[in-house]
Amino acid sequence: MRYARFPMRYARFPMRYARFPMPDPHEYLIYLKKARYFCNKMAVTTHQLIQWKQQGRRIVALTGYDYAIAQLLDQAGTDIILVGDSLAMPILGYETTLPLTLDEILHHAKAVRRGVKQALVVVDLPFLTYQESPQQAMHSAGRVLKETGAQAVKLEGGYPAMAATVSQLTSAGIPVMGHVGLTPQSVHQLGYKKQGKTAESADRILAESIALQEAGAFAIVLEHIPPDLAAQITEKLTIPTIGIGAGPHCDGQVLVTSDLLGLSEKQPPFAKAYVNLRSTITQAVQDYSLEVRERKFPEL
Ligand code: KIV
Repeated sequence: MRYARFPMRYARFPMRYARFPMPDPHEYLIYLKKARYFCNKMAVTTHQLIQWKQQGRRIVALTGYDYAIAQLLDQAGTDIILVGDSLAMPILGYETTLPLTLDEILHHAKAVRRGVKQALVVVDLPFLTYQESPQQAMHSAGRVLKETGAQAVKLEGGYPAMAATVSQLTSAGIPVMGHVGLTPQSVHQLGYKKQGKTAESADRILAESIALQEAGAFAIVLEHIPPDLAAQITEKLTIPTIGIGAGPHCDGQVLVTSDLLGLSEKQPPFAKAYVNLRSTITQAVQDYSLEVRERKFPEL
C-alpha cells in the first residue's frame, strides 16, 4: 500500500500526496506513526542538532565506553554518545582524566562505534593530545575520525588559543564540540569547583563560548556553571549548548553513564542515578556465589 511502503515520503510531503485517496483516519494514523519511526531511525547529524535547537527539541547525550552499553544507549534513543575522557576514572580506575592516552580512548571509541547505528558518536581528545599546537590537534582528531569511524571530537577550553585550533579543525572538515566552564583536564588549576561564579569568570566563559561558535564548533558542553549563566549563553548562541551541572535551560543534557546507572564509586553533586547497579550487581554475584557454594547451581 502506498502509505505503508513510502512512509518517509508521506511524512515529508503530506500536501503533495494529499490528493491520493486516504484509507480510514485510524489507518492513516498508523501510517504516520510508521513514518515517524522511520524518520527517527536516521543517523543523527551535527546539522540536525542545530535544527533541533531552533525547534526547541531537547538533545539527549550520554557517555559510552564499550560496545554493549553503547548499543543499549543507542537503541534507547540517545542522540549523542560521547566517548568521554571520563573513561579514565569509572572504567579504567585512574584518579583523574590526565593519564588517559589517545590509544586508550581510540580502543574504546572503536568498540562504541561498532555498537551504534543512529546516535552521533563524539570522542574526547585526551589531555595533551591537542593543546601543544593545531598540528597536534589535527593529527589526534584525524586519528579519531579515521580509526574509529566516530563523527566528531570534543576538546576542552576556549579563547583564544583553543578557538584557533578549533578553527583549523573545522576548516579541515572535522566537526568539533567545545567544552567550557569546569574543564576536568585543568583539575590542578581549577579543582572540581563550580565555575563562572564571579562576573569576571562568567564573562570569560561567555566569551569562550562565542569564540568557539565563531571557530565553527557545532555544540558546546557547559559544565558546572550557574544556571543563569548557562541560560545566557544558550540564548546568545545559535549552536546548541549541552549542560552538565549547568541547570535546565541548556539545549540538551549530558550525564556520565556510570553515574546514571549508579555504577560510580563517587559522583558529582549534580549527577543523578536512575538505578543502583552497584547494589544490583553485588546482589547477583552474592546469589550466584551462594548457589555455587551450596551446590544449587548448576542443576542436574
Ligand atoms: O568526559 C566526559 O565524560 C565529559 C562529560 C562530563 C561532558 O566530558
